[in-house]
Amino acid sequence: MTRFLVTGSAGLIGYQVTKDLVQQGDTVYAGYNKAEPNNGIPVKMDLLNQEQLNEVIEKTKPSAIIHLAAQTNVDLCETQKELALKMNADATKTIAKQAAKIKAFFVYVSTDYVFDGIKGLKKEEEKTNPVDYYGETKLQGENAVRSFASAWCIARTSTPYGMHKSKTSFPVWVAKNILEKNKINVVVDQFTSPTYVPNLSRMLIEVATRQITGLIHLAGATRISRYDMAKMVADKLNLDESFLGAAHMSDMKWTAKRPMDSSLDVSKAASILNEKPYTVEEGLDQFVKEFEVRSK
Ligand SMILES: NC(=O)c1ccc[n+]([C@@H]2O[C@H](COP(=O)([O-])OP(=O)(O)OC[C@H]3O[C@@H](n4cnc5c(N)ncnc54)[C@H](OP(=O)(O)O)[C@@H]3O)[C@@H](O)[C@H]2O)c1
Repeated sequence: MTRFLVTGSAGLIGYQVTKDLVQQGDTVYAGYNKAEPNNGIPVKMDLLNQEQLNEVIEKTKPSAIIHLAAQTNVDLCETQKELALKMNADATKTIAKQAAKIKAFFVYVSTDYVFDGIKGLKKEEEKTNPVDYYGETKLQGENAVRSFASAWCIARTSTPYGMHKSKTSFPVWVAKNILEKNKINVVVDQFTSPTYVPNLSRMLIEVATRQITGLIHLAGATRISRYDMAKMVADKLNLDESFLGAAHMSDMKWTAKRPMDSSLDVSKAASILNEKPYTVEEGLDQFVKEFEVRSK
């Protein structure tokens, strides 16, 4: 049994990780800011309150920390740069330093947006070059982990999706809009490695438990465009594909630039983990079952 601290424990990924850890019998401190977590022992941890971050880690003394809390709104990071830097880089530095003090293993969940997306299927050691401020602050978070944590793993993921009580991930957005008969435009020229959250959660827990150190890409095993994924969602749920319009990234009114192909090479995870990265087929098959059960 391990003592875990999970930050961002009510978020899309954190919710699943916390639930899975509690289910396997670990002691889990569930860090949150606004939304109270349903699982684990809730501990208030505001990324903007350095003192509170230090205090919580000192008091709870976890043996492993999975750091998920972040400012994940890519457009907001572009307009509120100071806030994004404080949340994604400065807070990560504080938590990493404190983790080193108590010798906790530190897992930092990072993003495919640290790459520029000119060429996809990036391997762990390839050159980073973020095109937006969100990616820049997450990269600074990575650098803080390398400099200040004692034993660490940086796990980059891409387009996480799954069911969540309040967060609408991409396939949920697609399905809901078609069911409500809204036509949606989906980009044909943006590629990622969509990651089914329950699969990601098991990979993250394995990394934290086996204390696998260094960089690792924990993402789905398929490089796919948003549009093709939307079509797969419609197909698997027997929904009318004519509600899906094709758009290009240049048509989108985004504030922040996005990488065009931020797909990740996951061969390292596939070769060393027992929990293998799912293909988009495998992930969506399970997602669809969950979606149908919850929509009844
Ligand atoms: N979503 C993606 O597309 C994506 C892709 C690649 C990597 N990632 C990375 O994966 C991690 C988790 O992402 P996610 O999709 O699960 O994010 P999410 O659903 O947006 O959740 C973000 C979490 O951060 C917490 N948070 C926000 N402001 C906070 C603050 N001031 N203090 C403490 N906690 C705060 C939120 O808690 P409250 O709700 O309580 O405020 C929430 O639990 C992030 O580090 C992200 O960078 C995400």
